Amino acid sequence: MATWKVLGICGSLRQKSYNSGLLRLAGRSSPGICVVGDELVGRLPLFNPDLDDGEDLPAAAAEFRSCADESEGVIIVSPEYAHGPSGVTKNAMDWLIGSGGLAGKPTLLMSASPGQAGGMRGHLALIPTLTLMGSILVDSVTVSGAPARADAQGDFYDPTVLERVRLSMEELTTALSYSHQKKEKSLLSD
Ligand SMILES: Cc1cc2nc3c(=O)[nH]c(=O)nc-3n(C[C@H](O)[C@H](O)[C@H](O)COP(=O)(O)O)c2cc1C
Repeated sequence: MATWKVLGICGSLRQKSYNSGLLRLAGRSSPGICVVGDELVGRLPLFNPDLDDGEDLPAAAAEFRSCADESEGVIIVSPEYAHGPSGVTKNAMDWLIGSGGLAGKPTLLMSASPGQAGGMRGHLALIPTLTLMGSILVDSVTVSGAPARADAQGDFYDPTVLERVRLSMEELTTALSYSHQKKEKSLLSD
């Protein structure tokens, strides 16, 4: 039975996306983790600070924020576009800046690409933003040569990818448990 609720952010809206496949694999790889909210990312409007305020907050953004607030951790899976993260990934993160939705949350960063670097350069650009937003980076997983390791729907079958994702989910579970214990201790000492 799932113990931890983890917000899923996938920065590709493509139907047979390898990055969506990677997020699905993550969701299947740990019975203790339930990935939520990933369907909300594609419904978010472009971030506009004028809308980031009480009554004008778009419904999809409000739903996304409350899903982030209720989650104990985060998995961000982003394609690399022109050596940076996709705009969809950054847009989702921008909506969480004002609400502090990543603060103190153990976070896994992942990407898949047909190229040899597996999307690593997109990670390099995201890490300073994640740090600023207070997220706790647990692991960074890149999958290179994606088309040879996944089927036509973007679902990965390569055992090396399956094992790498399983290990990163194990790391995330350990970090979630540690962060939960730390919160409980600080509540007790208040
Ligand atoms: C506009 C654009 C820019 C891209 N730039 C890069 C890049 O810098 N590095 C890379 O490894 N792949 C790049 N690619 C290839 C993507 O990694 C590939 O399309 C991948 O399948 C996208 O992820 P998805 O399958 O989850 O949609 C680019 C693709 C597009 C459409």
